[in-house]
Amino acid sequence: MLMKNGTLVLGFESSCDETGVALVETRAGQLPVLLAHALHSQVEMHSAYGGVVPELASRDHIRRVLPLTKQVLADARRDLAEVDVLAFTRGPGLAGALLVGSGVACALAAALGRPVLGVHHLEGHLLSPFLSRDPPQFPFVALLVSGGHTQLMQVDGVGRYSLLGETIDDAAGEAFDKSAKLLGLAYPGGPALARLAEQGDPSAFNLPRPLLKSGDLDFSFAGLKTAVMMQAKKLALGASCAVEALPAKVLSDLAAATQAAIVDVLVKKALTAVSQTGLTRLVVAGGVGANRVLREHLDAACAAARVRVHYPELQLCTDNGAMIAMAAAMRLQSGQQAASLEYAFDVKPRWPLEDIGIS
Ligand code: KG4
Ligand code: ZN
Repeated sequence: MLMKNGTLVLGFESSCDETGVALVETRAGQLPVLLAHALHSQVEMHSAYGGVVPELASRDHIRRVLPLTKQVLADARRDLAEVDVLAFTRGPGLAGALLVGSGVACALAAALGRPVLGVHHLEGHLLSPFLSRDPPQFPFVALLVSGGHTQLMQVDGVGRYSLLGETIDDAAGEAFDKSAKLLGLAYPGGPALARLAEQGDPSAFNLPRPLLKSGDLDFSFAGLKTAVMMQAKKLALGASCAVEALPAKVLSDLAAATQAAIVDVLVKKALTAVSQTGLTRLVVAGGVGANRVLREHLDAACAAARVRVHYPELQLCTDNGAMIAMAAAMRLQSGQQAASLEYAFDVKPRWPLEDIGIS
């Protein structure tokens, strides 16, 4: 497909528990521009179960996706017939949930006679800072911290990603979520733990910083969760009560100490990756990138090391359609062929980011 200026890309995100739709327009010699986006979070629906229920997620994506699409087109004052390319999250994620975005994108594309482009969810996160007021420039080191992934990547351009290090067990988001659950906080635990930590003293408990001094760029957070559990149980036993019934100050101290341990490791490893690659820019992406303490500590460490750090806008840190439409638009600008008129409805629930290039 030939790229023209003003190409309109309609993007769908449905990999997990947020339905996101967005319209992005390409501009000659410039970054694509976000015209409108809309999001529905299923958090309330899943919170009753303490986590995402895949079948319910798929059903809700189906209910939400077309009303959100209408809203996006109305907000952007564009007509569906003007859309040039349909983009969707192809993976990784929940298979049934992914199939909703892929099905809708392919069906609309077939009806309109337009091409489709399947986007890697993590590439969406990785390129989401290009939607911010302070967009980065290539090359940079990316710290990707989402619910399921913790990776350091060297990013030399669109589709040019090399893995520098990653978690060998739990992701940072998982460490937040699982520790939050242990402290009796509701799903999704990350933001709740961060809120509770605001009143706490991070030095009240000395929790492990796994692999902090390992010298490589890998992470491990499973042991931290166990340490939080042991500490919480010990405190509960001493007070003869359940963990959730511990005094508010004790719980907030433990939350703050947990957050500090996760943040310390992320900051140290990110800065090590920057110095090992000799690059001078760091990009943070993914849901945990919304964490205020992580941002503060990274800002300070990067200022001291003369490294420029870029973040997505706060509301675009967690899953959204804007990052998917943006990644597709940036791919098209970089010469990616949209998958012309083959509507394969195919998704990749497991899909390593290093496997994608520009085709
Ligand atoms: O990127 P994302 O929305 O979804 C995935 O692709 O996984 O990331 C979700 C993760 C969850 O683990 C959530 O608890 C965490 O990001 N998260 C946070 C915060 N906001 C979201 N963790 C810590 N502090 C936050 N403010
Ligand atoms: Zn995500």
